[in-house]
Amino acid sequence: MVEHTVNKSNSNLSTNIWGAEAILSKSEWLGNKAIKKVRIPKKYRIAPLDIELRKNRTATESKLLVAAKKNGVITPYIFEIDIVNTTIVMEYIEGKLVKSILDSELELQNKLNIVKEIGKQVGKLHNNDIIHGDLTTSNILERDTKFVFIDFGLGKFSSAIEDKAVDILLIKKCFISTHTEYNRELFLAFQEGYKETVSNFKTIFKRAVKVEARGRHLNEEQLFRDYLL
Ligand SMILES: Nc1ncnc2c1ncn2[C@@H]1O[C@H](COP(=O)(O)OP(=O)(O)O)[C@@H](O)[C@H]1O
Ligand SMILES: [Mg+2]
Repeated sequence: MVEHTVNKSNSNLSTNIWGAEAILSKSEWLGNKAIKKVRIPKKYRIAPLDIELRKNRTATESKLLVAAKKNGVITPYIFEIDIVNTTIVMEYIEGKLVKSILDSELELQNKLNIVKEIGKQVGKLHNNDIIHGDLTTSNILERDTKFVFIDFGLGKFSSAIEDKAVDILLIKKCFISTHTEYNRELFLAFQEGYKETVSNFKTIFKRAVKVEARGRHLNEEQLFRDYLL
């Protein structure tokens, strides 16, 4: 259970949201509040490839949203999938973006509790070989002290240690770039939660060190202190 008192709603869509690759608009589906996510063409991509990519991501996102839910991680219910028109209609989550909660004046300890819980949930995803692919605090919403994961379009099913390590690195990078002030504390709290659900966490963290060292041309020892190993 996570306790906090932020009341800032960030995912309230009064107007459309132009995401990185989709337009999201509020709609209704059989009396339920819904959100319609339409992946839009990108001019810089060759047209036939562009449509294939958008269809694939729509299909992938739908499958992963469902798989995550089956495994006890909260995701929006899917109401409709239209692969041809690269559209998903899903449950509208009445909640706040975790990003805005972490940006708020909330006490640090409460923020750490939130992130620890998120670590547990990501652990559950990974235990079921679900890779999120875009793990950031803008892709997690908080509703009634529970966390709802969205935006699985770059994800995949994989049991590979490397893919799990890359997910871990994505959230680490998100803390560094978006929640800079407490990024270390946040990343450690995330790992605390992850450790509780993932038995082979050490193998995954060690791989994350390797991948990060490779990308940043750093000595692995310099990175070890960031990890609970
Ligand atoms: N089911 C939902 N309920 C409420 N808000 C949502 C939902 N899905 C997306 N959003 C809002 O729209 C934003 C962009 O959606 P997202 O699926 O992350 O698309 P993108 O791939 O463009 O990042 C999210 O950060 C969130 O604020
Ligand atoms: Mg997103």
